[in-house]
Amino acid sequence: MGPMPDLYELDQVPTPPALPGTVVVRPTPDELIDAVAADLVMQAHACVRTFGSFQLALSGGSTPVPLYRRLMYDPMYRGLPWGRTHLWVVDERRVPFDDERCNFTTINEIIGEHSDIPREQVHPIFALLPDADTQYEETFREVLAWREKGQDRLDYVLLGMGADGHTASLFPHSPALREEGRERLVRINAGPRVTPPDRVTMTFRLLNASRCLAVMVTGKGKRAMVERVAAAWAGRRGDRVDGALVDELPVLGLCPLAGELRWYLDYAACPDTPEVTA
Ligand code: 6PG
Repeated sequence: MGPMPDLYELDQVPTPPALPGTVVVRPTPDELIDAVAADLVMQAHACVRTFGSFQLALSGGSTPVPLYRRLMYDPMYRGLPWGRTHLWVVDERRVPFDDERCNFTTINEIIGEHSDIPREQVHPIFALLPDADTQYEETFREVLAWREKGQDRLDYVLLGMGADGHTASLFPHSPALREEGRERLVRINAGPRVTPPDRVTMTFRLLNASRCLAVMVTGKGKRAMVERVAAAWAGRRGDRVDGALVDELPVLGLCPLAGELRWYLDYAACPDTPEVTA
């Protein structure tokens, strides 16, 4: 028998990289979307049953857009309790709503306008306001004040990771990671360390208080960073990573206090996936 055909390599299941929390691996982005969507729907129902509402925060970027679309058109996910959902934006670019880079507009066009979510439960970041961050923080506190103490937090936060290790708009070495803002839930992030345009972003304080953090990473372009993050995590001392490492690789700042962290990777983003040369 000659050498195994390339197809064989496709059949190999990569070992999930050792990242903090749970790691879910699926062969293709489409299959990964099913895994995320199934978990999201389950969380939504559980939260509506227990707390009467589902507090959902979504990220921008290109990775989750097909997921947002699937949530709308796939009959599997029709049961999502949008009527009881509050929709938040993890981070926003400081651009007008009619700018194509506006995360809210993208999310709202797909979900807000095509679900029965009441308008008043959709919470854009008014990113151009000088106090956009404190305003969003106030809105958040007002809405969540209806929840019993201890449950006044986000239920499900969908995040991505940049090839530079950023998550939300928390870029390596950027001001929003600095100590002095640690008590803030939302911050403006700007300056040379922030990929333009300037941003408004949820902070680790808010993110890490959440019930469930989901980090969705797809494609070969993210593989090297996944490998780096896994290596840094493996080399940590103790349960948490130190501030210097978070400054370098912000995604490692995700560390829920009383919640769950789940990574969702496709094969292409897994360091262990063999190169397929077909
Ligand atoms: C944003 C996101 C950001 C994103 C990563 C990955 O608004 O851009 O909140 O954190 O998730 O940059 O972006 P891609 O999905 O486009 O690779």
